[in-house]
Amino acid sequence: MRLIPLANSEQVSRWAARHIVNRIQAFAPEAGRPFVLGLPTGGTPLATYRELVRLHRAGDISFRHVVTFNMDEYVGLPRHHPQSYHHFMHEHFFSQVDISPENINLLDGNAPDLEAECRRYEDKIKHYGKIHLFMGGVGSDGHIAFNEPASSLSSRTRIKTLTEDTRMANSRFFDNDPDQVPRQALTVGVGTLLEAEEIMLLVTGHAKALALQAAVEGCVNHLWTVSALQLHPRSLIVCDTPATLEL
Ligand code: GLP
Repeated sequence: MRLIPLANSEQVSRWAARHIVNRIQAFAPEAGRPFVLGLPTGGTPLATYRELVRLHRAGDISFRHVVTFNMDEYVGLPRHHPQSYHHFMHEHFFSQVDISPENINLLDGNAPDLEAECRRYEDKIKHYGKIHLFMGGVGSDGHIAFNEPASSLSSRTRIKTLTEDTRMANSRFFDNDPDQVPRQALTVGVGTLLEAEEIMLLVTGHAKALALQAAVEGCVNHLWTVSALQLHPRSLIVCDTPATLEL
């Protein structure tokens, strides 16, 4: 695991965006295959998306040969709801770069058969071989994607019931009303994440200090699913000074 401690969240997002651009540009397509990028939502990656859009507009990077897979999506939230992850991704990133719509993959939290939808997603990832770079954030309780505490570290894409802590934390996007936050989500599993060639986690702010401590200094355990990154041969954590408070 590589830890990249930077002074502030602005530097974190610039570093992360530059890393993504470098990886895409250095990618030698194997038998015409595209670069496969895993993406998160949440407040943390917003500035990274802004920076990627800026670099795209400056002519530094094209996403024409990039395929994306998002980590997770709420169950039952209409696709065009302002807080759906579909909406988030289109608003903050996809609509502002040159990615082809057919290269965008998101879980459908309104699919009639949610288990089949999760299997479809895993199969689609396999179809591309692997995810080359998975960018992620972390919840203050150490969850990665929506792999809540006590998720199996070998879990695959599945339906997950959200904890009260997560619904409380995410209620800031739902009029501060936890009752409006969906009770379930679809999420890639910890096992799915660990199969990516590289994982880059962004951790900013003192609210994430305990999660960063668990990720870097704690034992690998299913109560802090982020600690599974220690098992990965190529994981990278980019963090700001406030997040390092407990190290
Ligand atoms: C949600 C998402 C996670 C994200 C976490 C932290 O629970 N499912 O993928 O990492 O929130 O979000 P934020 O960056 O807003 O703190």
